[in-house]
Amino acid sequence: MTSFRHPRSSRPHLRTVSITGVGSYVPERILTNAELEKIVETSDEWITSRTGIKERRIAAPGEATSDLATEASKRALANAGITPDQVDLIIVATITPDMLFPSTACLVQQKLGATRAAAFDIEAACSGFVYALDIASHFVASHTYDTVLVIGAEKMSSVIDWTDRNTCVLFGDGAGAAVLQNRPNAHGLLTTCLGSDGGKAGLLEQPAGGSACPATADSVAKGMHFLRMDGKQTFKNAVNAMAAAATEALARCELSISQIKCVIPHQANQRIIDAVGEQLGADPAQLFVNVDRYGNTSAASVAIALDEAVRQGRIERGDLVLLVVFGAGLTWGAAVIEW
Ligand code: UT7
Repeated sequence: MTSFRHPRSSRPHLRTVSITGVGSYVPERILTNAELEKIVETSDEWITSRTGIKERRIAAPGEATSDLATEASKRALANAGITPDQVDLIIVATITPDMLFPSTACLVQQKLGATRAAAFDIEAACSGFVYALDIASHFVASHTYDTVLVIGAEKMSSVIDWTDRNTCVLFGDGAGAAVLQNRPNAHGLLTTCLGSDGGKAGLLEQPAGGSACPATADSVAKGMHFLRMDGKQTFKNAVNAMAAAATEALARCELSISQIKCVIPHQANQRIIDAVGEQLGADPAQLFVNVDRYGNTSAASVAIALDEAVRQGRIERGDLVLLVVFGAGLTWGAAVIEW
């Protein structure tokens, strides 16, 4: 696991990095468990007891990942009190880009009118937002850019096999965004820990559509452009990796879990959240949960949750926040933020 500890006064040539605004957006359309009962052989009881999910949002047919990302970004910029022309860099974390290229970040740059901004995508699946935060923070810390917009956005409904009950009940669409800047006399992002294990890439993948297996009539007929997952193995790896990443991040900051005001875990499954909380020794009241309303929105998950936690008053200036994520790759990560 690699880690980066952000500087305080000991390394004055690097700046501290704060999140100065957050925002999120989910599509209007709600898909309930009752509706899924009509599509595949499943039940509200099974989905609720195995995952905690009651409903998820589904983007409209003409709505792409860049549209969700743009709406979330407008809210984050408004909360930060800045205009799009002040943004220096846009990073979008997604596994459901509008297209393979150009990047979704470039499309967001145009839709926002962020005319000065450089823009690129990163891909770390459900861990993408914390990976993007880490990358963005280095640009601000090093004085390369003053204002970086970090977005986690997904239209998971576009890669779901709606005949596969093992996966179609789990995911949803949405986006969350954060503005990173140096705020004088504030600490902000204290540490980030990232990890990956490509040896387990096959546990969760979208096999076709890339250079290894380009799109053909045969690949489409075989459903190879849909997400595939070994749920049980993914579950076990998720719990262990998230608990380890969070423990490492806390240790680097010399913090104990009891000092954290709000733990925001990746929202994949209530049982994963509970198990991670238990391994960390967290009080359930410290854990932020919205998986019941949105399902697993991959890279958007902790970004949406962070915005909701702030809007609900669960996080206030000076509070310590722990983000912890896990996804395909495998990838995982944690971040500690002094709000
Ligand atoms: O975002 C990061 C990556 N994603 C995750 O972290 C997700 C990780 N995995 C999970 O959350 C869980 O493994 C699942 C929710 C996917 C599955 O829960 P599980 O307790 O591991 O269930 P299971 O795979 O052991 O399946 C149990 C049974 C199977 O039937 P049999 O073989 O025991 O007869 C499945 O066919 O449940 C069946 N099943 C369903 N039944 C009703 C699977 N999906 C459904 C369904 N409705 N939607």
